[in-house]
Formats: sequence, C-alpha cells, structure tokens
Amino acid sequence: MSTIQIKDRLFKPYIDRSSIDSAVKRLAAQMNKDLAGKRPLFLCVLNGAFMFAADLFREINVDAEITFIRMKSYEGTQSTGIIKQIYGLQEDIKDRTVVIVEDIVDTGFTMQNLKKQLEEKNPKEIKVATLLFKPDSLQCDVKLDYVAFEIPKAFIVGYGLDYDELGRNLKDIYVVTE
Ligand code: IMP
Repeated sequence: MSTIQIKDRLFKPYIDRSSIDSAVKRLAAQMNKDLAGKRPLFLCVLNGAFMFAADLFREINVDAEITFIRMKSYEGTQSTGIIKQIYGLQEDIKDRTVVIVEDIVDTGFTMQNLKKQLEEKNPKEIKVATLLFKPDSLQCDVKLDYVAFEIPKAFIVGYGLDYDELGRNLKDIYVVTE
C-alpha cells in the first residue's frame, strides 16, 4: 500500500484489508450471538456501506434478510437546512429487528435522522452497525451497537467510502494527508 492521489488530494494507507476482515468477523460473531432467532432485517445504507454490508452479511450464519436504502437530501421548506429522507424501503418493519448498516458515523445527524424515521414505522428494535465512527465529531446522542473502528476526525476513503464519488473501489481504507 502506498500514498494515492484522488483528484486534488493525497491519501495515505490507514486500515489494511486484513484488519478490516478481522473487524468484520468480530462484529459478525457478536451479531450471530445477539440476533439468533430474531430473523433480523439488515438495512444497508447506500452507497457507502455496500462493501461493508456484503462482507458482514456473508459472515452472518443465523436466519437474516437484507435490503438496501438511500438517504436522499432535500431542502427543507424552512431554515432547517438539509433534511434527509429514506428512499427504497419496501419492507414492512413493524415488530421486526432492524440492523442499520452504515459506512461511517461522523456528526451522527444522518444516523439520528434515519433512526427517527424508522422508529415511526414501529419496529421491535433497531440496532446500528457502522464500519467507522469518529467520536470526536459526534454532535448528537446516538447509540451505536456495533463499531468496527473508532477513528480520529479525519477524512477517509476506500472500501465503499468516497471522495467526490471516487475511491469507493479501494480494497483498503486511506486517510487524507494534511
Ligand atoms: P454524519 O451525518 O455527519 O454522521 O455523516 C454521515 C455521512 O457523511 C456518511 O454516511 C458519509 O457519507 C459522509 N462522511 C462522513 N465522514 C466521511 C469520511 O471521512 N469519508 C467519506 N464520507 C464521509
């Protein structure tokens, strides 16, 4: 692994593929214990979580379903700024165990908003799995059940995460250089 350039930025290697593999297996093992008999519905948040969700779901050995959603931004009618709404959820989640699979929790606003919208559909419980979590950036109260890596405030690409839509195909995770 060496430093790479994406558009105007340089990124250096940060988390390699084998460390990602181990972390994904660790989370899956915990989930297999917690979710046995619950037939959970995994909700992969596109686009960023697609690779993480695929690898994680492969390691799940209890009965489980998966589906894919997007959070699309639209301008609020008031000065509340950008609001994100769920698109693509066809399944009825009432009384079900839902596992949100997200790429990264930064300020936490996206996750908080997503959980709030899902709670309105009366699931039995909502669990949250994220590949990356930046605790120093968190600005709201959101409970994370499964975290693969806690990282400092820094911009990350690779393994599904993008910089201006590029870099998602990288097998490893990279961090922007100063
Ligand atoms: P939050 O609402 O601030 O927690 O941001 C969540 C979303 O911001 C993620 O789902 C990503 O799409 C994006 N994001 C936050 N940090 C990064 C990063 O370091 N690299 C790539 N995308 C990021």
